[in-house]
Amino acid sequence: MEIKAIRGFNDILPDEIGKWQFVERTAREVFEGFGFSEIRIPILERTELFSRGIGEATDIVEKEMYTFSDRSGNSLTLRPEATASIARAYLEHQVYSFDPVAKYYYIGPMFRYERPQKGRYRQFYQIDAEVFGVENPMVDAEIILMLVHFLKKVGLENLELQINTLGCRKCRPRYREELKAFMKNISFQLCEDCQRRLETNPLRIFDCKVETCKSAITEAPQVTNYTCPDCQGHFDRVKEYLAVAGLSYILNPKMVRGLDYYTRTAFEVVSYQLGSQNAVTGGGRYDNLFQEIGGPDIPGIGFAVGIERLVSLLPAGKEFVSSPHLFVAALGEGPAREAYKLVYELHLQGIQAELDYERRSLKSQMRRADKLKARFALILGEDELKRGTAMLRNMETKSQEEVPLNDLTSTLKQKLAI
Ligand code: HAM
Repeated sequence: MEIKAIRGFNDILPDEIGKWQFVERTAREVFEGFGFSEIRIPILERTELFSRGIGEATDIVEKEMYTFSDRSGNSLTLRPEATASIARAYLEHQVYSFDPVAKYYYIGPMFRYERPQKGRYRQFYQIDAEVFGVENPMVDAEIILMLVHFLKKVGLENLELQINTLGCRKCRPRYREELKAFMKNISFQLCEDCQRRLETNPLRIFDCKVETCKSAITEAPQVTNYTCPDCQGHFDRVKEYLAVAGLSYILNPKMVRGLDYYTRTAFEVVSYQLGSQNAVTGGGRYDNLFQEIGGPDIPGIGFAVGIERLVSLLPAGKEFVSSPHLFVAALGEGPAREAYKLVYELHLQGIQAELDYERRSLKSQMRRADKLKARFALILGEDELKRGTAMLRNMETKSQEEVPLNDLTSTLKQKLAI
């Protein structure tokens, strides 16, 4: 039986990879320009990191983690997100003792046992950015500005930035109680999962995708009406800083995000092109996360962009697939050997050259050059070889000229403008 990939785990084939590389390259350029440095973290972590960091009563920890015991009996988890791991690395290496302010970005795969559908996979990629050690709301606005700039630079349009505040340890308990009381009154309209959430984590009911739950909670109390003066002041200043930079946003008091570590500012950028899985990116502030995972009191804020969703939104018509600069067609034994040597020399010079391995007719070699969308073809025959030349054909204009082989590299570099 043919072995297939696991459900929800995708291959990214070379004809798609150009888009991925473009997105990742743009992220690196933009983030590094904003003063962020790349960090690399492991794929596996101790399960505890996520259960404590993300929260026991979240969908991710309750039912979506790939958790298993290793041969020594340690409970390990394929990371469902990167924030907790990056925070762990910062604590473990005591980065804060040198300078508490750190700006990191990370690109890599995450794993969640969700029901696969378009835009939702079990292995998916995120581009993640985090700022540790700054409480000032200026940084909340700054990281949102960087995110929006990145999305625009990649070419996305029709995006909507939604923001909310989720309060803090001081004000959220009161809101939670009010919410619980409201939910109890309408509990007969809630799905089984939400009935359970009502006791464990009533905020999570806002994330429920079941239509009856969604309509039952339209009148639910909103977190923004319960925030303490400190949280309100923080949020007002975030909005001011966004306005100063000319960035528009929509207030969405129902956006609570699916992870428990969030405090104060939360944000999402949605695209109406994407249908139901419309969140391209989400993030927020998490001022208690470091303490939850055993560290000192350090504030943090960040976001993650889903690469699959972002790639699916890239403007059509943009050319991402790279094609060879040159296809070398050789006729006969001597020219074939010369072609092999020539292609090696061109590769050393960074010129993407392809050749025919099958010794086919000139016609079928040219057909292959066309299929590969080579920009030029070099035709090497016995006669030309004796003269130390070859025919160079521009595959687009179809014009041909005889060129000396001894300075082929510079001829090509000039024509290709590389
Ligand atoms: P999140 O909202 O769970 O946040 O995920 C961020 C983004 O990852 C989503 O907006 C979506 O584009 C993508 N994503 C999530 N799950 C899937 C999936 N199953 N398939 C495809 N794409 C998916 C976090 O992960 C936080 N760690 C973000 C953050 C960083 N907050 C602060 N810092």
